[in-house]
Amino acid sequence: MNDTLNPEKHEPVITPPGQTPYSAWIQTDALHSLQRTISDHPGEHAWMAHVQATELYWMLIIKEFQTAQRQLRADDLPQAYRTLLRVVEHQKVIDATWGSIAWMTPNDLLAILSRVAALFGKDTALQGWTYRHMVYLLGIKQAVHLQHFKPQPERWAQLEKALAEPSIYDDVLAYLRRRGMEVPIEVLERDLSAPYSPSKEIEQVWRDIYTDSDSNIELQQLGETLADIAEGFSNWKYRHLMATRRTFGARPAYFGTEGIAWLVPTLDEIPFPELWSARTFIGDPPAVCPHMAKHRS
Ligand code: HEM
Repeated sequence: MNDTLNPEKHEPVITPPGQTPYSAWIQTDALHSLQRTISDHPGEHAWMAHVQATELYWMLIIKEFQTAQRQLRADDLPQAYRTLLRVVEHQKVIDATWGSIAWMTPNDLLAILSRVAALFGKDTALQGWTYRHMVYLLGIKQAVHLQHFKPQPERWAQLEKALAEPSIYDDVLAYLRRRGMEVPIEVLERDLSAPYSPSKEIEQVWRDIYTDSDSNIELQQLGETLADIAEGFSNWKYRHLMATRRTFGARPAYFGTEGIAWLVPTLDEIPFPELWSARTFIGDPPAVCPHMAKHRS
């Protein structure tokens, strides 16, 4: 299933009757036919716009990561860097959209959710495939989440493929190896569908890149942009957790257990782990006594 290509994009377009060039290009009629509210709550429009806008931006980030991967594979770091900087900006937009539902109390949310349950059945946002695809591209590979896509075989296949393919981090590591950094080949040739195991060798690669703030500047900029992206992702998780606390309390959720207890440990899922762990050592002063030296290994 290809959500990213318009097969007719190179064909001349004739604006259909009843449309303007703007509406034909932006698909405004189709777009605004998609906000189908299901409750009488006046705030459901805001909820729908918030979630749909977030969905659009997650898809945008997927496309940006795929573009950055192609650019890294072509050893075009400047263009990959520009693409990743765009991801940082998209994440800021997603963050700002939380404001649209910040007014919600449990009364507001449950007025809407009770209608969802009555009309559609038991739902969870874990059934959202864009988020999961983005998370796989971020390198957080958890096959367990595929279970939610059994009713959507094409999305299952899409996610299974994304699970087995390189994440943006894998492409960065492969690029660093081509640049002469000591990325072990075993890290690149491992089973990419299994959860990533951080290693001392990759941590050392980042330590080497940051050893001297005046060297490897472009690789340090790449590292800082990846850190921004990881932070943007963690910010979303934190804001989602707090929105859950505010509107849902400690109620049992999809799995029948307290939703907050399910969410809290996921805050530790921070992308690009060695980029973070290396920071314990970056900037260490030279060892001047045996006590300091022992912290450097
Ligand atoms: C503000 C009210 C919200 C509540 C009370 C809430 C509640 C929850 C709960 C309890 C979970 C854990 C899984 C489950 O039991 O279903 C979850 C997961 C999730 N929710 Fe929400 N949610 C809210 C808003 C949103 C919004 C607005 C979005 C998207 C724009 C969203 C997207 C997600 C995603 C992607 C997950 C999976 C997170 C992960 O895998 O770590 N949620 N939510």
